Amino acid sequence: MAGSLALAGPQLIDLHPPAADLRRLVVAGMERQPRQLPAWLLYDDRGSQLFDAICQQPEYGLTRTETALLQQRAAELAQALGPGVLVEFGAGSARKVSPLLEALQPDAYAALDISTGHLRQACRALQQRHPTTPVLGISCDYSQLQQLPAHPWLEPRRLGFYPGSSIGNFSPEEAVTLLQQFRRLLEPNSRLLIGIDQPKAVERLEAAYNDQAGYSAAFALNLLHRLNRDLEGDFRPEAFGYKAWWQAEHSRIAMALISRESQTVTLAGRRWAFAAGEPLISEYSVKYTPDAFAQLAHRAGWRPLQRWSDAAEDLSLHLLEPAAGTSLADLEPDSAQPHNDR
Ligand SMILES: C[S@@+](CC[C@H](N)C(=O)[O-])C[C@H]1O[C@@H](n2cnc3c(N)ncnc32)[C@H](O)[C@@H]1O
Repeated sequence: MAGSLALAGPQLIDLHPPAADLRRLVVAGMERQPRQLPAWLLYDDRGSQLFDAICQQPEYGLTRTETALLQQRAAELAQALGPGVLVEFGAGSARKVSPLLEALQPDAYAALDISTGHLRQACRALQQRHPTTPVLGISCDYSQLQQLPAHPWLEPRRLGFYPGSSIGNFSPEEAVTLLQQFRRLLEPNSRLLIGIDQPKAVERLEAAYNDQAGYSAAFALNLLHRLNRDLEGDFRPEAFGYKAWWQAEHSRIAMALISRESQTVTLAGRRWAFAAGEPLISEYSVKYTPDAFAQLAHRAGWRPLQRWSDAAEDLSLHLLEPAAGTSLADLEPDSAQPHNDR
């Protein structure tokens, strides 16, 4: 039945956070010191396109390496995952998943993403490439969903897929909460395949987030256009520069818009003063060694089952299953909010 439904095209469920949430999050982020906004705000239609362009830059190897690893290991990964419905968190253009869909032939594929218009297009394109797989797009903030929506395609067994090292956008405490959240969304009898970027030479890391062509800078600056449009802001993007730098003490890249001058900005009905040189953090990207990530997974009640890496050990794919003897009730509550960098 599922196969014939797929021929009708992808379905989309819209659970996008309301505008009031956006205002609350932005005000809270602007009150932080240093100022820091949730990373998902970077992804409106234009932001998603710019992210795709970043992925093609020579300095940004993560996408190429992870895609190649998924292609090379697709059969093994599919066998280790086993049958079920594949649920991708933060699917973006949903290109990395293709080799997995071919090898796994899941009952259905669900793509969760906050960038609604881009998600719709990604699901349409994916459905054309995989006409017999039922494709369901869910526009949402995956860190805040109480449960996956009731839908016949989302019947157990659920297999989570979280590539791109996107967990690095969350602080380690938030990442534990997020992994618990994924376990709740995937229960029962789930597995999670997650891509983790590893620490490497500082020059390589900093170059990856400061590409010569300027797409990383344009991606961050697009945030100001979005804030102007969605929250009645009057940011002058030309009054901000962009910088990405390695913070060894946190094993992370910090990405920020830097005020070029002393200035005052209106946003969400309030006035905000920026000193010259003051940063507005647009996102972090925490890098984990395989051991550090395995410890994080344990803290969230997941047991690492298997790991695949590229030859240079630049990144890994980790397969996790719920740790025996841990129930969701054991894992909660965790004090950290899982929202990206909130
Ligand atoms: C770094 S991109 C990765 C895209 C793709 N998975 C890949 O590996 O290339 C992050 C994606 O997750 C989405 N995203 C970020 N935070 C999210 C959230 N809290 N809830 C849902 N989607 C989110 C963004 O819109 C974007 O498409």
